[in-house]
Amino acid sequence: MRLAMAHFPRYIWPAMSKSYPVANYQDYRPSKNPYASRIREFGSPLLLADADTEKHRGAWRAYFGAPKEAFLQLELGAYHGETSHHLARTHPEGVQLGVEWKYKQCFKAGKKAQDQGLKNVSFLRANFARLPWMFAPGEVDRVWILFPDPWSKAAQQKWRTLHPGFFRTLGVMLAEGKEVMLKTDHADYAAYIQESFKEAGCFDLLPKERAERLWQLIPPTPFERIFLRQSLPIHSFALVRNAQLVVAPVELQDVLS
Ligand SMILES: C[S@@+](CC[C@H](N)C(=O)[O-])C[C@H]1O[C@@H](n2cnc3c(N)ncnc32)[C@H](O)[C@@H]1O
Repeated sequence: MRLAMAHFPRYIWPAMSKSYPVANYQDYRPSKNPYASRIREFGSPLLLADADTEKHRGAWRAYFGAPKEAFLQLELGAYHGETSHHLARTHPEGVQLGVEWKYKQCFKAGKKAQDQGLKNVSFLRANFARLPWMFAPGEVDRVWILFPDPWSKAAQQKWRTLHPGFFRTLGVMLAEGKEVMLKTDHADYAAYIQESFKEAGCFDLLPKERAERLWQLIPPTPFERIFLRQSLPIHSFALVRNAQLVVAPVELQDVLS
């Protein structure tokens, strides 16, 4: 689906925008992973994989039969789904989506949602890089990114997700006033995240009291519990989409225009 730019007047498309360090935007290929077929055979709206995660762009609320004002939260790196299950349970009037790359983890997240009788959550086996194909501009109300892989070694840092171009993509997916909640245990990644969202320019830090209220919405995640047991410091960022025009990454101009 191509969306008319006139509907999204806060975008600008300069030719100069910086490229993603790693542009892994390929379509999905068939996988021999046994959990890929288990997801296909699951036959429930609680689980979608690969190309199927891109069929509801702009229509996720309708996918759940929810009204168009239903609050849509998105968790990136949902793992076994614990945080998304919690948010779905505690926001029964809203809709919850969890994106996870690993087939097995994603399958388990969907299966547990089914076991818990949840109807307002779905887990999407997908790559973060494909978010612009999955969500229309302004479609998402809040994003949670909890303990993203820090890719600590110098040679791996090109794989880091939270670079300036990614924040600009989130800036397109979220309307002004919408939030991104981020946590990492990794001090160097925290510094990188701070530089990245500042460079993107379309997010500000939320006031402290609002940030604290939002953090109370979720319990510690599985990875967070490990880091807390090790007494590692946790770095958190609560961001709000400001009114600034978004400079979309050049590679994404076709899909986002
Ligand atoms: C360190 S774990 C954190 C899991 C969970 N959020 C927590 O706090 O316990 C990061 C998760 O993000 C997923 N992930 C990493 N890169 C991804 C990508 N590009 N697309 C989708 N999922 C990704 C991993 O498979 C993993 O489950």
